[in-house]
Amino acid sequence: MLDSILAKEAADQWSIEHDIDWDLPIRYPFWFRRSTYIRTISQIYHGERLTQRACQRLLTEVDDPLVSQFLACQLADEQKHEAVFARYINLMGDIAPIEPAIKDPLEGSLAWQGSKLGSPLGVMISFHIVFEGGAVTVLDRLGRSLPCPLFRAINTKVMADEARHNAFGTKYVRDQLPNLSNEERLEIFAHVARLWLDCAKATENRYSIPIALVTRLKSNYLAENWERQKLQLIKIGLVTADEAMKTEASLR
Ligand SMILES: [Fe+2]
Ligand SMILES: [Fe+2]
Repeated sequence: MLDSILAKEAADQWSIEHDIDWDLPIRYPFWFRRSTYIRTISQIYHGERLTQRACQRLLTEVDDPLVSQFLACQLADEQKHEAVFARYINLMGDIAPIEPAIKDPLEGSLAWQGSKLGSPLGVMISFHIVFEGGAVTVLDRLGRSLPCPLFRAINTKVMADEARHNAFGTKYVRDQLPNLSNEERLEIFAHVARLWLDCAKATENRYSIPIALVTRLKSNYLAENWERQKLQLIKIGLVTADEAMKTEASLR
């Protein structure tokens, strides 16, 4: 199974220069100021950069050669995503600073210090499952809602990569779960839940990132995303629905 994800990784390679038609026009959504549009796309760019740090860290923590091989390919994908979004944004203006709604949960995910075994899983569950799983949904909606042909061309390529990273993380975590003690399982879940719930709470009813406006997701889309990804974690077997409920209740 990991072999087939790796084969797909090799088959799906694309080039910024040759596979994106840079002659496509840029079209701004009429409902945004330009600066707001740039600020929104800039958040994707920053997400790409933070995901690279997750890959770099995971590369030092896993010892399975196939897993390392995938992570090395993923790191190259994320560097390409950073470059492609930087080029797109620079056609419109300067890259805007990162917003807390992206920075806080991702920096928090990187700060995870678990046991030797728990450590890569804590990072991978937060990045590969919660963040990249959510990114696929958001990018899909952005691709449908935004009128820019160039953005759509880029987005189609990036989204396929993110879906593959998410599939890899899901597979890896599922395989590793039998090696985790109950205590570690619950500890990891509590850590990830706290990060994403805090972030959802901080941005509630505040369009700090206007993604919600573009995608017609509700303003509490971070909370909704957490609910969706939590179901994934239950399905994978990290926690039971009951354990998830109790842990979340203890965090509130
Ligand atoms: Fe990416
Ligand atoms: Fe990714």
